[in-house]
Amino acid sequence: MVHLILKFTTAFLLTTLLLPDPAHFDDEESAIELWYPKGNAVIVRTGMGGVVGAFEENVASVQLLRELDQHSSLPLQRMTQKDVFAKSIRDLFPAHCFLRSIAFAFTLSNGKQESRSLTATLEAPIDLKAFWESDFFKAVYAFAYQKSVFAVEVDLQIWSGPVLDVGSEAYRDRYMNKFAFSPALEPGRNVFHLRALDPEGNVLHLDSLQFFMQSDAASESDAGFTAEPLHSPEQEEFCGGCHTMVPDDATIQNQGEVKEICSACHTPLVSQTSSHSPAAEWECLMCHDANSSPRYSLYTDQTYDAEFCMQCHPDIQERTEMQSPHAAAQMSCINCHDAHGSSRRKLLKGDVKPLCASCHEDAAATPHPVNNHPLAGAADPLVEGRPFSCASCHDPHGSNEAKLLREPFTKMCRACHKIW
Ligand code: HEC
Ligand code: HEC
Ligand code: HEC
Ligand code: HEC
Ligand code: HEC
Ligand code: HEC
Ligand code: HEC
Ligand code: HEC
Repeated sequence: MVHLILKFTTAFLLTTLLLPDPAHFDDEESAIELWYPKGNAVIVRTGMGGVVGAFEENVASVQLLRELDQHSSLPLQRMTQKDVFAKSIRDLFPAHCFLRSIAFAFTLSNGKQESRSLTATLEAPIDLKAFWESDFFKAVYAFAYQKSVFAVEVDLQIWSGPVLDVGSEAYRDRYMNKFAFSPALEPGRNVFHLRALDPEGNVLHLDSLQFFMQSDAASESDAGFTAEPLHSPEQEEFCGGCHTMVPDDATIQNQGEVKEICSACHTPLVSQTSSHSPAAEWECLMCHDANSSPRYSLYTDQTYDAEFCMQCHPDIQERTEMQSPHAAAQMSCINCHDAHGSSRRKLLKGDVKPLCASCHEDAAATPHPVNNHPLAGAADPLVEGRPFSCASCHDPHGSNEAKLLREPFTKMCRACHKIW
């Protein structure tokens, strides 16, 4: 059953959604028991979340729906643009989705705004066909055709995601009463809604779950979220019914088998533009201890330090022992590098200038060594493929010159400016 609440407003306004109160499902008779995560606001560091639990006999489908807000601007000043208007709107909807609300704000050529907004409840997926044929959309469409309409902003709120048909015999034979989702996560806050439906489509369970993916690209605060280490015996049990979680001693010696286990969940970590060869070759257990508690802590007693990386990078160790070592590199390589892979060259966690600026705000904001000298941007004249930046003049690990300079100060200008 779908309710469309048709609203014509002049203000640009979204109406709140008519949702069953989640507290209502919070009683003992809940149709879903969530095993992992335990909390409903969890911090993760990799681009995935696991949502695992069990359901009651009468549940026919379980859904994990991602909350998505989309904003799009479509030009409508020409007739051809108005002709493809309906198709452009249709293309905004993903394959499987529930419409929460849609709002159109038209701009007229005299600069005025006219808005149309619609809200739907979530008892069933909205029938998009019915939506296109609704009086609401017809009115919107007719409006878009007017000569004076210049552009439209569309705000779409949807829930979208996979539906598990857990009622089928095949499903129950294989997984019994367990369900598992592993949604890919974006940096920052990811909001999901977990639902259980009976065979008639009635909602038996609804609650919301949030993951915060920590990453350099996430700027919001993760306050209110807590970490739940996955590789603890208690948590691993929840995944262990379907995945191999704990390698035995023979497996630990065999890289191929380690790959088989870890790749089920950790492939995204090593599928990046530049990858660290030990990780790309699934030598995970060279750095992570399969017998630690929690499992897969780094060797070296869980205190990570630069020594750990320098075992394999003696050339870098040498630099950190020069006359002008970089204190940051002596402390920790992972301030700047990701141990697995990165979308940038040299496994860098970020672009060089912002990376340095995170500790050297003043130097990064003050053009030097001469007035007006750029500090980032152009191509580096010394190394092909390297963007020009702080690391063009300073060695990020250490050097024998003052201020970590790569060249003696008296020679350095000429290294790049052949003219002088
Ligand atoms: C009921 C069985 C079941 C349980 C329990 C289960 N999984 Fe899975 N999981 C699967 C299946 C089956 C696949 C493979 C799906 C495929 O290959 O399409 C999978 C795949 C995955 C993937 C890879 C998804 C991808 O897109 O490649 C991740 C990550 C994952 N599971 C995490 C977990 C975590 C974490 C747990 C425990 C908290 C867990 N799973 C528990 C059945 C389960
Ligand atoms: C069933 C899926 C699954 C399998 C199989 C799996 N992991 Fe994980 N692992 C996870 C999830 C989920 C997390 C938590 C994600 C997060 O915090 O970002 C995690 C976290 C980790 C962490 C971080 C621990 C921490 O304290 O932050 C390490 C290291 C790790 N896994 C290593 C491994 C290795 C090595 C293997 C293979 C031997 C492996 N994992 C197999 C799902 C899996
Ligand atoms: C060269 C050593 C090294 C290798 C090889 C390695 N890791 Fe790591 N891993 C680390 C370090 C160091 C950290 C801690 C990073 C941090 O705290 O920022 C880490 C952290 C992690 C995390 C936590 C999430 C993150 O990105 O910080 C996961 C998950 C993980 N490793 C899984 C794996 C898997 C799976 C493999 C094999 C494909 C692997 N690691 C191979 C050194 C390594
Ligand atoms: C077990 C040995 C080993 C350990 C431990 C190790 N590395 Fe590496 N690292 C390698 C190898 C092998 C390469 C690839 C050879 C090369 O290109 O120089 C590499 C390459 C690199 C590169 C250069 C990538 C490029 O594109 O040129 C960086 C940066 C790096 N490692 C950082 C680290 C950091 C940070 C750590 C600690 C978290 C670490 N390594 C720990 C073996 C190791
Ligand atoms: C302050 C940031 C920073 C720290 C800390 C840092 N690096 Fe780097 N590292 C860089 C940058 C930037 C580059 C790229 C330099 C370039 O483009 O020439 C780099 C390059 C490298 C390379 C590639 C070889 C080379 O010389 O270009 C390796 C290997 C490496 N780092 C390892 C390490 C290890 C090991 C540590 C810890 C002991 C470490 N780094 C600490 C910023 C850092
Ligand atoms: C995690 C913090 C951190 C990061 C990131 C960092 N540094 Fe540093 N840097 C330090 C510390 C700590 C010192 C030593 C204390 C000081 O002299 O300010 C230092 C010292 C220096 C010095 C010597 C200053 C002097 O007066 O002798 C230079 C130059 C420098 N860093 C450049 C860089 C560059 C270039 C980058 C980026 C590739 C960078 N730093 C990234 C922490 C950092
Ligand atoms: C064109 C070469 C060049 C570039 C690019 C460059 N620096 Fe420098 N930097 C120098 C020289 C030369 C000095 C020492 C003379 C001076 O202080 O002007 C210096 C000094 C410094 C110092 C020490 C300041 C002090 O008070 O002693 C820091 C810190 C520093 N640079 C950081 C950075 C950072 C961060 C970037 C990138 C945003 C950067 N540098 C880009 C050449 C450069
Ligand atoms: C690692 C290479 C590098 C080094 C070392 C270097 N520069 Fe530059 N310099 C550049 C780049 C790149 C630009 C910007 C592109 C261009 O204009 O060629 C630039 C631009 C300049 C400019 C023009 C700035 C403006 O007003 O537009 C001057 C002047 C200059 N550099 C002087 C110096 C002096 C003096 C030194 C030595 C203290 C020096 N540079 C060291 C790479 C370097």
